[in-house]
Amino acid sequence: MIEVSRAKGSYIYDNDNNRYLDFVAGVSACSVGHCNEEIINAISSQSQKYMHVMVYGEFITKPSLDLAKLLAKNLPESLNCTYFTNSGTEALEGSMKLARRHTGRKKIIAAKNAYHGSTMGALTLMGLDERKKPFEPLIPDVEFIDFNSFQDIHKIDEKTSCVILETIQGSAGFILPAEGYLSSVKKKCKEVGALLILDEIQTGIGRTGKLFGFENFYCVPDIIVYGKGLGGGIPIGAFTSSKKLMDVLHVNPILGHITTFGANPVITAAALQTLKIVLDSKIMESTLSKEKLFRQKLNHKLISQIRGVGLMLCLIMNDSEIANKLVLEAKNKGLILFWLLIEKRAVRITPPLTISEKEIEEGCDIILNILDTI
Ligand SMILES: Cc1ncc(COP(=O)(O)O)c(C=O)c1O
Repeated sequence: MIEVSRAKGSYIYDNDNNRYLDFVAGVSACSVGHCNEEIINAISSQSQKYMHVMVYGEFITKPSLDLAKLLAKNLPESLNCTYFTNSGTEALEGSMKLARRHTGRKKIIAAKNAYHGSTMGALTLMGLDERKKPFEPLIPDVEFIDFNSFQDIHKIDEKTSCVILETIQGSAGFILPAEGYLSSVKKKCKEVGALLILDEIQTGIGRTGKLFGFENFYCVPDIIVYGKGLGGGIPIGAFTSSKKLMDVLHVNPILGHITTFGANPVITAAALQTLKIVLDSKIMESTLSKEKLFRQKLNHKLISQIRGVGLMLCLIMNDSEIANKLVLEAKNKGLILFWLLIEKRAVRITPPLTISEKEIEEGCDIILNILDTI
């Protein structure tokens, strides 16, 4: 194991000052690189003003208000109200409660091989029994469809409160929605009065070349759930819907979702700065040219496929043994790679969005050299 002494930009350093090029970014979280100076300044400056006060509506805290406004400005009109939480998973839980509360219905539909987090509700949505069995009973009334199956869409019915899907299935192997799939699901949801919730926890905040992944697929969901990259390395989660929809969480019961540290001023100051960097720079569009470079460079007979979009990429190796060897050996050679939870042949490549072309070339050369020896 590496004992981390410091991290900067695309690199992590251990106690002996060995340098590791980071192709994982804390699992898609460190969107603008490690220890970005502007984020450090935002945290420091907010910490000197005030840190934690109260969160149940007694005070307006500027960083969270500014963050919510900036998000709304950059989202479709129907996504204009945001609730901040401590993690992506908690935001997902909040969104499930919102959908049940709004529709008065219990049934939730999720996709097989999905991953939405590890709390009891989010875990229930994970369409993989072996990971759920030891923790049962989980929450009732959750049913599963095959991601990308147009036939399964008929399972969304008048009893359904919401359909929850990852915009791009992550742990399953970075599987993109088929053309027209998400909009067909949305259409059916609308017909039966259910809500479509898209989990943007990995795809959000510029990783796919757009601020949110759904913008690539011509489908505006009723609720988006995100976190990871929004914090720029600081823990945050959020769910966004229309104000009208979000308002139902205020009543019957009052404070329908409670969280002490949600919208914490220091954390939202860091997130606000992260979002500004992503929006005001060329980072988002550069993810697509960086994707191209990865695809050009990573040409090897042991790599059967490169999946994903932008800087949410994974290599599908010929078998899981090769994937394993590559991840382990890369660490010895100064490159951080990682596995996916469900697709065992996959090797994750989700570097900071700020990674340079030179760093991409350096990391790809390490990968190719290792594969030559396997
Ligand atoms: C698609 C997706 N949903 C939910 C989660 C859970 O997010 P967190 O661990 O930040 O709560 C993750 C984390 O990997 C994820 O990738």
